[in-house]
Amino acid sequence: MYVTSKEMLTEAQKGGYAVGAFNAENMEMIRAIIAAAEELKAPVMIQTTPGTVKYASLETFAAITKAEAEKATVPVCLHLDHGSSFEMAVKAIQVGYSSVMIDGSKLDLEANIALSKRVADVGRACGVPVEAELGKVGGKEDDTESKESAYTDPVEAKRFVEETEVDFLAIGIGTAHGVYKVKPVLNTQRITEVREVVSIPLVLHGSSGLTDDDVKDCVKRGMCKVNFATELRQEYLRATRELLNADATIIDPKKIGEAAMKAVKAQVEYRMKVCGCDGKA
Ligand code: 13P
Ligand code: ZN
Repeated sequence: MYVTSKEMLTEAQKGGYAVGAFNAENMEMIRAIIAAAEELKAPVMIQTTPGTVKYASLETFAAITKAEAEKATVPVCLHLDHGSSFEMAVKAIQVGYSSVMIDGSKLDLEANIALSKRVADVGRACGVPVEAELGKVGGKEDDTESKESAYTDPVEAKRFVEETEVDFLAIGIGTAHGVYKVKPVLNTQRITEVREVVSIPLVLHGSSGLTDDDVKDCVKRGMCKVNFATELRQEYLRATRELLNADATIIDPKKIGEAAMKAVKAQVEYRMKVCGCDGKA
């Protein structure tokens, strides 16, 4: 089923687990993620960054995901990840994305509030939930790199949610996008502090490379959506390289796709179990 993120994240919040949100780059990754969700009877979010959207297009990702989701028995949502402008978020809604993020975290607080509110207003009118970000997730995200990793201020978070009326909030607790070169210093207590003053579902970014215990601790403290991108790319490429190294005669792209899908599906299933969303569909 093709659904929005609203009900699945509300249910996750009530049930004390998180829905896995997995970044896809192509049809194979979309199919692998949905296959994992079917296997484990889990609700699932598929998401695309602006860089990924540039590679194919919003329309193409929406069409592939809808076609695949409609064959599935579990709820599947397509989310715009790190939407970089009002126009991009609106376009995603127009072409059928069932959830969007507007990322104004690089702006100052007032400008982030204004932009996030504008998108939340459109989302509400169209029945599409909106995620916004306050604080900073470090590391490489899509095409931009940030050295900062600022923890979100709970007082600002409360004001941000009240004024913007967004549906979900991504907060900074010390994670970073991409591959961790050193072990991240997580301030998980900060999740608890934000949770005390903010009632909407919270979102964890930069989850690739975190230990199972770290993810579980974040979920226990209130993270209801957990984003994984880098790990899936790594698995996709590892399986592709292994296959091509083992057999240089391959000329059928389907063979590569099959091997890559199998590896991505296994990684998604493993992370779904860590998030506790298996069996929740
Ligand atoms: P990773 O690439 O670190 O898994 O981060 C994923 C993410 O936050 C996507 O928005
Ligand atoms: Zn992210």
